[in-house]
Amino acid sequence: MVSAFSPDLQNKIDTLMARRKSITLGRVSFDGPLLVAPMSAITSAPYRMLMQDLGAGGSISELISCHGINYKGVKTLHMLSIAAEERNVGIQLFGEDPEAMALAAKRVEALEHPPKFIDINMGCPVRKVVSKGAGSALLRAPEKLGTFFSTMRKAIQLPLTVKIRTGQNEESINAPEVVRIAHEEGLEFVSIHGRTSVQQYRGKANWELIEKVAQEAPLPIIGNGDLQAPEEIRKRLNATHCKALMLGRGPLRSPFLFLESYLTPEDKIFFTPGDYFQVLSRYRQYLEAYTPIARVIETQIKKHVVWMVAGMPGASQFRSQVFASADFPSLWALIIQYMEGLTAHLQQHGEGFREALDGDFMEGGHG
Ligand SMILES: Cc1cc2nc3c(=O)[nH]c(=O)nc-3n(C[C@H](O)[C@H](O)[C@H](O)COP(=O)(O)O)c2cc1C
Repeated sequence: MVSAFSPDLQNKIDTLMARRKSITLGRVSFDGPLLVAPMSAITSAPYRMLMQDLGAGGSISELISCHGINYKGVKTLHMLSIAAEERNVGIQLFGEDPEAMALAAKRVEALEHPPKFIDINMGCPVRKVVSKGAGSALLRAPEKLGTFFSTMRKAIQLPLTVKIRTGQNEESINAPEVVRIAHEEGLEFVSIHGRTSVQQYRGKANWELIEKVAQEAPLPIIGNGDLQAPEEIRKRLNATHCKALMLGRGPLRSPFLFLESYLTPEDKIFFTPGDYFQVLSRYRQYLEAYTPIARVIETQIKKHVVWMVAGMPGASQFRSQVFASADFPSLWALIIQYMEGLTAHLQQHGEGFREALDGDFMEGGHG
């Protein structure tokens, strides 16, 4: 059991969360149209639960190796854990061999807490994955995808989905073809990160292309890429051909992004430094329930607090102090001190303790 949020914060959460509408994509239902994108070393159970509490309608795990599952690697099997309180989680598998992927999918389906669906990673541009023929390398040979999908499809009852890039490069955009094959083979939906594989994280996500594919697609499309500002997300939600949107890096900076996307101009709802601290405290509790390894907890808290304070006053000095902190108690004390400083800053300067950031943030990842 985690400790409750303050009544004030819970009230803000409840007000905004009540505005979500649940959605159904094929055989998969979500509590809202904004989902957590898969991110390696981030979207394990603690972070997914935190985002569920803060308005995400569902989420996808980090990419997990089918071979790791089939060899029953202890670390890999732990990555498959889904907490009893979690709703609407997909487990994402990666691998180059459809038979090995099918076997891993079967094992995932047989877990005590199975996911709602199994997602295939066909977007990872990272060399270690692509050089073995997995991730976005699979998009280079669309003629093999029918067999790939059907081999997995036949092995499980759980819904099967896929996350892709728009294509290998600008000259070989093939998202429409991959979507067509996914539909023919009975997949439930396709998530599209609107960049090519060679682009990695450079440039901007191509929303014109995502929208065009979504408009013409015979199955639901989830759009993804660069959705960072609440106004932009709200606008997109109101006008998109996608059935859902997926947020990756945005909520790392701004854990209230899901909720803020449901704000209207009339609202007087504002998240305070104390609210951010409550989020971190809850994340800490989820981490402590998930792993006994103190180093993992400390690393996660450090990473998340540093992402969270980007754009707040004194963030760069605080960041150096975080990485120089000697142990967990001093790290936690430092965080409390920083958040108290922010509260004082807020009292002196009004609401603007958080600058909108533009520019690039975390240009790397497995999809
Ligand atoms: C640190 C990091 C790790 C990622 N890991 C994965 C992954 O495991 N599987 C995947 O399909 N995509 C992965 N991605 C890609 C994201 O799911 C998403 O497609 C991408 O970040 C673009 O969305 P965003 O601009 O909202 O972050 C990762 C991205 C980042 C930044």
